[in-house]
Amino acid sequence: MATGLLALGTYAPSKVLRNKDLESFMDTSDEWITTRTGIRERRVSELNEYASDLAVKAVQDLIRRHGEQALEGVDQVVVATNTPDAFFPNTAAIVADQLGLKGAAGYDLLAGCPGWLYALAQAAGQVEAGIARKVLVIGSEVLTKIVDWRDRSSAVLFGDAAGAAVVGPVAEGHGFRSFVLGADGSGGHALHFAAIASSLPDGTQMSSSARMNGREVFKFAVRVMDTATVEAIEKAGLHPDDISLFVPHQANERIIDAARERLGLEWDRVVMNLDRYGNTSTASIPLALREALDAGKIKEGDHLLFVSFGAGLTWAATVLTW
Ligand code: ACO
Repeated sequence: MATGLLALGTYAPSKVLRNKDLESFMDTSDEWITTRTGIRERRVSELNEYASDLAVKAVQDLIRRHGEQALEGVDQVVVATNTPDAFFPNTAAIVADQLGLKGAAGYDLLAGCPGWLYALAQAAGQVEAGIARKVLVIGSEVLTKIVDWRDRSSAVLFGDAAGAAVVGPVAEGHGFRSFVLGADGSGGHALHFAAIASSLPDGTQMSSSARMNGREVFKFAVRVMDTATVEAIEKAGLHPDDISLFVPHQANERIIDAARERLGLEWDRVVMNLDRYGNTSTASIPLALREALDAGKIKEGDHLLFVSFGAGLTWAATVLTW
């Protein structure tokens, strides 16, 4: 049985934080951020807006685009996130309840930025094994709530957003052709967050925040974007020339450029939107994919390549035939 994406919706909060805005409270500049990362602005969730809220809004967008019937048969909800509402209850259960998906299984998946790709692999495997009929796979993040706003080298990178897809059976010749998943905990210290993004019942915010060794993560990212994409293309029985569109994790333009060059792809075959959203972690690939679809860049039969890296350290890549 072939499995693939049946529907896709996204959400990004309306509040925009531009590089120029950061200059007013941080020792940084629009020039430094754009040349080092490609990011120009990011979206910021409201104080009382959490991963479950963004996730539900992404699913509402999916319903607007594909109709209520898109959720028919969904018996499992997975939320890939690094910023769950709480340790428990899990964010997926909250989202399933708010969407009226009574009895659907729900769990969160914590695997750094590649979490959404990890969750797609889980979902595809469970549908193919007959464990689930259709799975709602969501990536949702409120990273601006956990970054250390005094640390200019990491705070400028992240933004909030969510993306939601329904994974289920598709016609033969379409859908997922390969998955590559990996982790190397020995590098975990390079991207570290000790506590969960949450607030106490009285509204007190957690005080811990994320720490990152940018240079170390950069080197790791360039290496695994190369090895994971090559492996995913090989496993799919394809050649880099067969890839119609490359949808990489939107973390840093220089990292994407290095991967693009190694694959020999021109920029017109690469989806980029990090200039407007920054790094939205697990939401980054669905957000970029939705924009590419809306822009008419994807047609039936196209081979799409997704790749991501992040905290863990983890990586993932997949090839999907549209
Ligand atoms: N504004 C101005 N100057 C800055 C800023 C800033 N926002 N941030 C750092 N600098 C300064 C540094 O202090 C340093 O100054 P110094 O030379 O006087 O010491 C200088 O700029 C250069 O710093 P580097 O860290 O060497 O800059 P680099 O070119 O490596 O870029 C960056 C830093 C953008 C963080 C890069 O390393 C990067 O993108 N790394 C990958 C990070 C990433 O993608 N993380 C997300 C992982 S996904 C997940 O799971 C969450």
